[in-house]
Amino acid sequence: MARSIKLGVLGSGSGSNMQAILDAIDAGTLNAEIVIVLSDNPDGYILERARRAGIPAGVIDCGGFMSKFPDEKQAEAAQRLKEAGVELVCLAGFMRLVKQPMLDYFPQRILNIHPSLLPAYPGLMAWKQAVKDGATESGCTVHYVDAGMDTGPIIKQVRVPVLADDTSESLHERIQVAEHKLYPEVITNVAIGL
Ligand code: GRF
Repeated sequence: MARSIKLGVLGSGSGSNMQAILDAIDAGTLNAEIVIVLSDNPDGYILERARRAGIPAGVIDCGGFMSKFPDEKQAEAAQRLKEAGVELVCLAGFMRLVKQPMLDYFPQRILNIHPSLLPAYPGLMAWKQAVKDGATESGCTVHYVDAGMDTGPIIKQVRVPVLADDTSESLHERIQVAEHKLYPEVITNVAIGL
């Protein structure tokens, strides 16, 4: 069995993917510990989930910028992650573009989960893009993060069919079911190689 790995999670919203990681840890299928959770959204439910699980949690204050992740805030967040002993960073619904200098602190050690079969539908609300486009298939992707928008090397994908009567919401719900299995599984495999 691989040694336990220290994870840091960055999110902005509900945190259901972080919950899936926690559930896998509790179930013993993922040998890891989430040592810190950071959110750029002080109201994100991910912070509440972290507090309930007794995980140190904090806010990344981006000073009123809606989507920009200023360099000094990236460096500050990276330092907080390093101080917590994080070995692998998991983006879980984090709505800002991570790039340098954060990438320099964690080279090849930042993962993201995206709700489409990349390279199709990068960016925001990929499930809406798929339905609008009339796609018959979508899915989810876990990839390493590089400086682009959802462009990093793909680790694993799961296909999810788009049903004839799907709304963007119903598709996203089914994609999330797939995400919650995929992300802990990929983290387990990546951790073995660290
Ligand atoms: C997920 O669909 C993820 O793929 C995308 O944002 C959503 C986050 O959901 N990046 P949650 O906060 O994990 O519930």
